[in-house]
Amino acid sequence: MDVIEIIRAKRDGGKLTPEQIDWVIGAYTRGEVAEEQMAALAMAIFLRGMDRAEVSRWTEAMLSSGDRLDFSDLARPTTDKHSTGGVGDKITLPLTPTVAACGAAVPQLSGRGLGHTGGTLDKLESIPGWRASLSTEEMRQVITDTGGVICAAGSGLAPADRKLYALRDVTGTVESIPLIAASIMSKKLAEGTAALVLDVKVGSGAFMKDADSARELARTMVDIGNDHGVRTVALLTDMATPLGRQVGNALEVAEAVEVLSGGGPADVVELTVALAREMLIATGLTPGENGVKDPAEALRDGSALQAWKDLIRAQGGDPDAPLPEAAERRVVLAPADGVLTRLDAYQVGLAAWRLGAGRARKEDAVSFGAGVTLHAKPGEAVKTGEPLFTLHADEPERFDRAALALEGAFDIEDAAVWKAEPLLIDRVS
Ligand code: URA
Repeated sequence: MDVIEIIRAKRDGGKLTPEQIDWVIGAYTRGEVAEEQMAALAMAIFLRGMDRAEVSRWTEAMLSSGDRLDFSDLARPTTDKHSTGGVGDKITLPLTPTVAACGAAVPQLSGRGLGHTGGTLDKLESIPGWRASLSTEEMRQVITDTGGVICAAGSGLAPADRKLYALRDVTGTVESIPLIAASIMSKKLAEGTAALVLDVKVGSGAFMKDADSARELARTMVDIGNDHGVRTVALLTDMATPLGRQVGNALEVAEAVEVLSGGGPADVVELTVALAREMLIATGLTPGENGVKDPAEALRDGSALQAWKDLIRAQGGDPDAPLPEAAERRVVLAPADGVLTRLDAYQVGLAAWRLGAGRARKEDAVSFGAGVTLHAKPGEAVKTGEPLFTLHADEPERFDRAALALEGAFDIEDAAVWKAEPLLIDRVS
């Protein structure tokens, strides 16, 4: 095979053959295709796209570049969720134990945050003692004992994606729907789940800023999943405004525990329950029938909270230990009376990141206590001089730049201007 011929074929709008795709992914992973050649091919794909058969094969080739976990021998059906990433998106934390409490098993391989979106592992690592790195045997033990496991994906899963994602990151080729879909799905298929629910975020805090592109990404991923025998559905959900009232690692863990205790913000509860029901249905379990508990009931009756404690303990954590708090706080006051009609997810995420909750480079440490507390959500009344945000940071010199990110992040208007937008935008199956 000739890599230059493959690049030219895609550059000129052609369709890649299965043999070409298998060869180029394999040769790139082995280091036989140069970085600059793969960069040219990624840009050609970015500009020309790939059809369903090409994306499916590209995913398959990346999946085959590494290990594939197998949980098919577990007594419970397996089901997982993947979110394309957002601000205040702590849903994995209440969702995994809730679904476990309803009778399915959740093998959840998660990542760390980069940029303005937080990572599930960073959040959980704020719990004293909790370990993200587990061997395959440990993963199997935890999921068998507790019905769920949340851990770091080992380097053996989809190594082609690891290499290609790093290249896309520095060549302006991340925002390509076929490449994003293949990247996410190769990792999710490698994790060995039988069913998958995708939470595709739409809005300023998400990869996909508009519903049409989010729908196209969702359709592409759902097709890949189903083509590979994994029952896959997607929900399109709002990320124009942050989820919940807490943005930051330990702050979000505390909010997740509130939800697991039967309280918490309405949007976090709504999304947790909606995704949990979809995850159960995708495995063939019907919530509320034949002894299968409904997720809303599991949050109310304490069984989801018990599953959370079991899961945290099984990975070395102490679910009852106090969570880390930032050394310093600054309160930002509302500048006017009225109703909060807009609160921009991206800018709140940026503020949390500037406070130390996120990292600029992969090797940076995060501050567990840093972040932003939102005292008002869109649709709520605010009064001049009352707290709008509390900023949390370990170093007070971080406050000014975080406050700057929040300056244009909200509108306070007359109540008549307010129009509620749905959290659940669409469903793709
Ligand atoms: N997340 C991924 O895992 N891959 C992408 O390409 C984009 C987001």
